Amino acid sequence: MQAFVSRRLPREGAALLAAAGGCSIQQWDSDEPIPRSELLAGVAGKHGLLCVLSDRVDKEVLDAAGPNLKIISTLSVGVDHLDLEEIKKRGIRVGYTPDILTDATAELSVALLLATCRRLLEAVEEVKNGGWTSWKPLWMCGYGLSGSTVGIIGLGRIGLAVARRLKPFGVKKFLYTGSRPKPENAAEFQAEFVPLTKLAEKSDFVVVTCSLTPGTKGMCNKDFFSRMKKTSVFINTSRGAVVSQEDLYQALVSGQIAAAGLDVTSPEPLPTDHPLLSLKNCMILPHIGSATYATRNAMSVLAANNLLAGLKGESMPSELPL
Ligand code: NDP
Ligand code: DGY
Repeated sequence: MQAFVSRRLPREGAALLAAAGGCSIQQWDSDEPIPRSELLAGVAGKHGLLCVLSDRVDKEVLDAAGPNLKIISTLSVGVDHLDLEEIKKRGIRVGYTPDILTDATAELSVALLLATCRRLLEAVEEVKNGGWTSWKPLWMCGYGLSGSTVGIIGLGRIGLAVARRLKPFGVKKFLYTGSRPKPENAAEFQAEFVPLTKLAEKSDFVVVTCSLTPGTKGMCNKDFFSRMKKTSVFINTSRGAVVSQEDLYQALVSGQIAAAGLDVTSPEPLPTDHPLLSLKNCMILPHIGSATYATRNAMSVLAANNLLAGLKGESMPSELPL
């Protein structure tokens, strides 16, 4: 069996693959993304592909791989970079990494929310540039969670873990939206299932934790931001394309909303001259939701085990139902 791995992996996953008998692994052994031409060449004739979220696995890659390809293991829970329809049509199985990154991503979502609503980056900058002249009653004020309404777009694994972490801050009410009500997740917080428009109107904090699908693409747009309160804070740790960044920019510049914190953008990386980066009320992180050493190691182990099980035709520890 032959597999192609499109990135250097964290230590534990790499060790598993190195020790796997009966399987020959070819790898793009770099922290930097594989050039498209190398991916197309590398995957040719392989039975398995272990990829990362910046590799677009579409018809072109599947054609380049050819009929041997039986398993794609992605080092991510998000699968929007995979052409699932085409993959399914070809009878290829997909492994992914849910659950093990939920805590790290929820933790980062809360960190980003707090840093954004309490203006931490601006405040640190003021200390450094001499803007801190005295304690002033209304200087550097932001918005707090206590007594607030938090709206979660996508009350899945990560959305639920975010709500669990925010509740002890004194949040008064949780709202959520999705394709259907989830009483099993909502009960813990008496969270109310509402349409997207109502979530925008009523929330003091909006946290986006849904997956990127044709139905969620561009969902946070001009209409959405225009319904939000001027004092509301918008956080996105799902995928950049869920948000219309032009509409978000206008909402932030015009004071339609108070602030935004984004861990994900479109494209990634965001060009350094992007208008959103010129705004004081927008904090942008480089997609680090799952970036703890332990989590990335665990992801690499799961992705390696998914690949190896798929190559052997066995059941995978985490297979995406197609
Ligand atoms: P889940 O599948 O558990 O949750 C995804 C949620 O999205 C589901 O609750 C689903 O709700 C919801 N959703 C789907 N369609 C809609 C819709 N139209 N409106 C609102 N919600 C919708 O996945 P996870 O929680 O594990 O991960 C979520 C996403 O987070 C990943 O797909 C990935 O893109 C992103 N992520 C980002 C990370 C980062 O580093 N920033 C790290 C890890 C993940 P329903 O069941 O009702 O359809
Ligand atoms: C994912 O897994 O989808 C994240 O975006 C990276 O951890």
